[in-house]
Amino acid sequence: MTNNKNLLAIIGGTGLGNLKNLEITRHQVVNTPFGEPSAPLTFGLLGGSEVVFFARHGHSHRIPPHQINYRANLWALREAGVSQIIAVAAVGGITSHMGPSVLCIPDQVIDYSYGREHTFFEGTLDSVTHIDFTYPYSESLRHELAHAANVLSLDVVEGGVYACTQGPRLESKAEIMRLERDGCDIVGMTGMPEASLARELGVEYAHLTVIANWAAGKNDDKIITMDEIDATLKDGMRKVRSLIQQVLEQRSTR
Ligand code: HPA
Repeated sequence: MTNNKNLLAIIGGTGLGNLKNLEITRHQVVNTPFGEPSAPLTFGLLGGSEVVFFARHGHSHRIPPHQINYRANLWALREAGVSQIIAVAAVGGITSHMGPSVLCIPDQVIDYSYGREHTFFEGTLDSVTHIDFTYPYSESLRHELAHAANVLSLDVVEGGVYACTQGPRLESKAEIMRLERDGCDIVGMTGMPEASLARELGVEYAHLTVIANWAAGKNDDKIITMDEIDATLKDGMRKVRSLIQQVLEQRSTR
């Protein structure tokens, strides 16, 4: 499955329902063989380059992680000519350097989600296909993000293991202890199968995560509230917006 246009998409998650500086040029509704995507695609210009913005949870943030139609979303983006994705997501921090408001560009993932439509390779196939997923994220996109973060002196952790849980509930303390033993640094609910579906379609994909809270049991056993998450994300998503703008400015001058 190949794609000859060269378009970058930003997938926005919790806390990033739009890109404020985007000069919107058009919206596109895409139908897919897998059903309806979460939202129409928003095309626009940012930092001198064309970009597509896509709201993973829908425009009013109404679709929970386990009910997102990941296949329709990825298919729609690829149909529209997208060849690269920066996927923004809120996460909980597990290891000591992953405190609230820090940004992390993970380099590995472990999938603990279940029951999600997770592949395009099903039905009547000519042959069974096993995609390589040794390195789940695009190294070149990760480096672009890291470079932009350095230019802006943003506090970003380069690398880390992302755990994808099923949600929509947060984890128990024992579950987080298990994820830590497994080597996970951060935990979210939407990173899979998004990343592997992108790989199946030959679309480059990097994850830009914002730590919204200490994961369960990691903050003196205090409970986690949505108010805490929302407040931290406000600050974190400000950084994400400037980081994305910087990536696009870097592109328009190269
Ligand atoms: N766990 C899973 N997903 C999340 C969390 C968390 O603690 N915070 C934000 N998204």
